[in-house]
Amino acid sequence: MEIQKMTRARGEIIVPGDKSISHRAVMLGALANGTTEIHGFLRGADCLSTIDCFREMGIEIEVNGGDVTVHGKGLNGLKKPEKTLYTGNSGTTTRLLCGILAGQPFDCEITGDASICRRPMGRVAKPLALMGAQIEGEYCPLKIHGTALHGMDYQMTVASAQVKTALILAGLYADGETVIHETEKSRDHTERMLSAMGADIEVDGLKITVRPGKELKPQTVDVPGDISSAAFFMVLGAIMPNSEIKIKNVGVNPTRTGIIDVFRDMGANMEIVNERTVSGEPVADIIVSTSNLKGCEIGGDIIPRLIDELPVIAAAAVFAEGRTVISGAQELKVKESNRIAAVVTEFKKCGIDITETDDGMIINGGKPVHGADFATRSDHRMAMSLAVLAQRAEGISTLDDGECVDVSYPAFFGDFYGLGK
Ligand code: S3P
Repeated sequence: MEIQKMTRARGEIIVPGDKSISHRAVMLGALANGTTEIHGFLRGADCLSTIDCFREMGIEIEVNGGDVTVHGKGLNGLKKPEKTLYTGNSGTTTRLLCGILAGQPFDCEITGDASICRRPMGRVAKPLALMGAQIEGEYCPLKIHGTALHGMDYQMTVASAQVKTALILAGLYADGETVIHETEKSRDHTERMLSAMGADIEVDGLKITVRPGKELKPQTVDVPGDISSAAFFMVLGAIMPNSEIKIKNVGVNPTRTGIIDVFRDMGANMEIVNERTVSGEPVADIIVSTSNLKGCEIGGDIIPRLIDELPVIAAAAVFAEGRTVISGAQELKVKESNRIAAVVTEFKKCGIDITETDDGMIINGGKPVHGADFATRSDHRMAMSLAVLAQRAEGISTLDDGECVDVSYPAFFGDFYGLGK
């Protein structure tokens, strides 16, 4: 598809519900005793895969637009699925399910699409094995033999909320205390939601302690807009001339707001207003207008707080004066695509001065950029980042697969072009 060009971007927008919170609300709702109501649920392909998997395990789930009702059956209420659980393109579904399935009284198989089958699952299977889990395979399809689990004291080796959450969920089924030490603080939606549901969980800095034995109480969950989706409009508003975009109702949990810190560093015109707490999560409106961005250094413990936003932050860096260095971001290599290689290869097609490094990239910004025929690698965040980049590129740009945005933001192009009218 050809990317339509806009001359400016103005208006208000509400982005779809947070993907991480939507997954967790369904999973924890299924394990709670009673009915969980979810409002503002993200009806993207990934979260729908989570719903399908739990329906396959006997959980009744009603979907009415963004309102989802999950009829939870308690921690021990899942039934053995009759077929292989299919998680589509969703790493979060696959990895978090490993944590839940490891301690069930049944065996099952789990697999996903071609991209999921290339993504490392050993990172959850190996630490889960220390709890007694029996998971065969390091890549999907995985065979999971449900078994008794033990508590453990575990120092994580990767900064990953998916790995952390898998271990926390397994900890609900263990015979004793599970202590997890994070390397860096990653998104903590699971900890917040479990705590609200009455689970025995404590968080002390990078240390999380979970004890089994408590029933989960169902909740009403109002899912805030996903800051990872808002990020595309933050960058669009900053790089386009004569522009101002207000993104309403965005989740601003501090474990997710690295992009706000980076925008401050880059000198963006940005305001965070109407800050409040909804369903135990901080929420605000974000206003970004045309900015004279400058390059900056992005690395260290901020990385897990903006990992999914890095491709579009790289697009902002292209239009910033000076050099931007992204380091410590090797985790980008195991996302829906290798996002270091993908960003560098696609940006080079536009004449951008960008260099790949082992753990990130270096961008010398503020130079002319021309359009190109982009390969998305069927990676939703690459497609949306390239659509933003193309707005400031001279000439025509195309995407080979615009439909992959369905994974996290099915209405993306409508919302995006709407701001240009
Ligand atoms: C997610 C965690 C992150 C993120 C992914 C969603 C989650 O992955 O990239 O989009 O919901 O826990 P990692 O934990 O593997 O970094």
